[in-house]
Amino acid sequence: MHLSRDEEEALQGERGETLRRAMEILVALGDIYSADRLIPVRSVQVAGVSFKTIGEAGLEWISDLRGRVLVPSVLNPAGMDLSRWREMGIDEKFANKQIEIVDAYKSLGISPDCTCTPYSIRPDSARKGDHLAWSESSAVSFANSVIGAKTNREGGPSALAAALVGKTPRYGYHLEENRIPTIKISVDAYLDPSDYGLLGYIVGREVGEGVPRFRFRRRPEIDELKALGAAMAASGSVALYYFDEDAPSAPKGSEQITVTAEDLRAVREENAPDDEVDIVAVGCPHSSPKELEELARLLEGKKVEREFWICTARGIAERCPKLVEKIEGSGAKVFCDTCMVVSPASDRYKKMMVNSGKALAYVPGLCKIKAAFGSNEECVRAATRRN
Ligand code: F3S
Repeated sequence: MHLSRDEEEALQGERGETLRRAMEILVALGDIYSADRLIPVRSVQVAGVSFKTIGEAGLEWISDLRGRVLVPSVLNPAGMDLSRWREMGIDEKFANKQIEIVDAYKSLGISPDCTCTPYSIRPDSARKGDHLAWSESSAVSFANSVIGAKTNREGGPSALAAALVGKTPRYGYHLEENRIPTIKISVDAYLDPSDYGLLGYIVGREVGEGVPRFRFRRRPEIDELKALGAAMAASGSVALYYFDEDAPSAPKGSEQITVTAEDLRAVREENAPDDEVDIVAVGCPHSSPKELEELARLLEGKKVEREFWICTARGIAERCPKLVEKIEGSGAKVFCDTCMVVSPASDRYKKMMVNSGKALAYVPGLCKIKAAFGSNEECVRAATRRN
């Protein structure tokens, strides 16, 4: 990989140990993927934040770094709401470690916005055509597919290295030739909003890391696209998809898959909730203001009978205090900075009902509890139903 003189000097350690280590990571990645050079990024989203996932070793690695990030950078969700962790049932030992991790990132100049929807709180962090170094798979998918920016799915260390250097190796989804659709998906069903997560769950399993091009009966809404991309990135590893009429076509002879109403119904039935559900959690990816509004409407005049968590970005909760108040009036809890998958607080339940194809794919493996799926209405019904 070609390096400029500045980059070469940083790699040789002439700009300090932290930059040397960051450059070492970027150069190693660039060499593995045959990148020709480093390119500047507009923003970075760093994964590897929850103490549940990175543990002591990760905390030590981050705490050792010195320096400042060169581009606007935010964090992925942490293992707890940074201020209401006691209400989540998080113990003090975990909380202290989690706060240490976030503080270590803050000391590098990274904003402690812990969210998988950085685009919702900082719309200028990613614009069409921008190169980014984002980590969280649903955010990566949204950036590539809905915003039209360009990012690979970075690991925690490579995103952090990109933030410190302000650049990333030019390979993968930064190159036009890797952004061509590889498979056609025809959706032969009228979809309601909750179907997009299920559709992504089905398609991700089929296409793995392909680039699907969808044909829909109607143009999906933004939150539907968010759910679709998140689920495909979890059940498969889709980082880019197309949904627009004027999107590039898949080359002639590309494989084609049709998803029918029957396919969706089968997955819905397979994952239907039952009496074992002892927690309901929505907001994967983090809830938008529109989704909070819908939940506030559905919960109006009701009381929850079991734990009901709504996960969102702190910036969104702060923007919508009345909605948060309305939702919490029912006994449901709006938690920020975290989510049901990366928080150890989920692990003490038996079965979690979710409205997200991504959470449906991840909860059993990462929380070691069972998962069930339903729409927002069904989630509210399950949360407010008396035993
Ligand atoms: Fe976000 Fe957690 Fe889901 S990081 S996409 S809410 S698994």
